[in-house]
Amino acid sequence: MKPWNLPELAQRLYINEVVMRDGLQIEPVFVPTADKVALIKDLGRTGLHKIEVSSFISPKAVPALRDAEAVFRQIDRVPAVTYTALVLNIRGAERALECNVDEINLVVSASETHNLANTRMTRKQSRQALRGIVEMARGHMAINVSVSTAFGCPMEGYIKPDNVLDIADEFVALGVQGITLCDTTGMANPAQVHALCAGLTQRWPSTELTLHFHNTRGMGLSNVLAGLAAGVSHFDASLAGLGGCPFAPGASGNICTEDLVHMLQSMGYNTGIDLEMLLACSRIIPDFVQHSVPGQVLHAGPWNTRHPVPADFEATRARALDRDIQKK
Ligand code: COA
Ligand code: ZN
Repeated sequence: MKPWNLPELAQRLYINEVVMRDGLQIEPVFVPTADKVALIKDLGRTGLHKIEVSSFISPKAVPALRDAEAVFRQIDRVPAVTYTALVLNIRGAERALECNVDEINLVVSASETHNLANTRMTRKQSRQALRGIVEMARGHMAINVSVSTAFGCPMEGYIKPDNVLDIADEFVALGVQGITLCDTTGMANPAQVHALCAGLTQRWPSTELTLHFHNTRGMGLSNVLAGLAAGVSHFDASLAGLGGCPFAPGASGNICTEDLVHMLQSMGYNTGIDLEMLLACSRIIPDFVQHSVPGQVLHAGPWNTRHPVPADFEATRARALDRDIQKK
């Protein structure tokens, strides 16, 4: 089989930060509003394309995000950054409109079981609700539709690509600005990602296509490379590798933003992001959530980190060179 071709290094890649939403929604602690606002301010200056700020959902369902309005009111927005929020129903869309959100991220699952667990609606009901939201929001804010469990459902298993494409095609035809395909519980493998995504940028030429991977089984960054090879240039990721859907059994963290940016930059790609500034943001996450985090570059440092040579280096070298002299 022909190896996949990665795009030219000159191609700009775009990273969307989801830690404030996907990252915090699964955490038992409530991060104070002022801390969220301060982190969003710092993240806005790193060069990220979008920041998903919060969710306008039931505060009882996800208490960690119960301050969505307060956060939106207080953030200081950088013009080049798109500030987005997750919305599942009309009530959520009305709240987002009140807050002058740049873009709403609507979610429907490709799996009937996960859609019911997550939204308490059938897929048909969700699609109907989302059509109503598109009608209402059109012209007021940009609209992205995320298709969750697009590569597999932890309860149903394999998800047929047609289920995913049918949903996405409908909303592309309705004129939404973006589609995100989400691997909600890290079930996707690179071959599957390439097979599903190849040709999609031609199928939806005027729609921004984003991939959203979780690293539940260690395949997250490999899946990014498969997506890149299939022509995708927008990726979601979460600072320090936090994340997970509280309504998907076995969910765990997203691919880690600084690990993703580090990989792409060390390959020579332009993400527009200042890695040092991003790492500075990530360093405060363990304090925020009161536990250690999966991000790896945060622990190891970037690839060009240099450690001091061993203390006995000179003595070891002298002994090694001595051996050459004795042989002569
Ligand atoms: N904003 C604020 N409150 C909302 C709301 C919204 N967008 N939508 C529903 N609610 C409130 C209702 O007012 C009601 O409150 P009450 O119990 O005080 O009367 C409660 O939530 C239940 O509302 P109902 O319309 O009966 O919905 P439901 O019980 O079928 O729940 C969801 C459906 C989707 C609203 C709810 O389960 C939810 O918000 N889930 C979050 C899912 C999520 O964030 N998943 C992870 C990301 S994909
Ligand atoms: Zn997710």
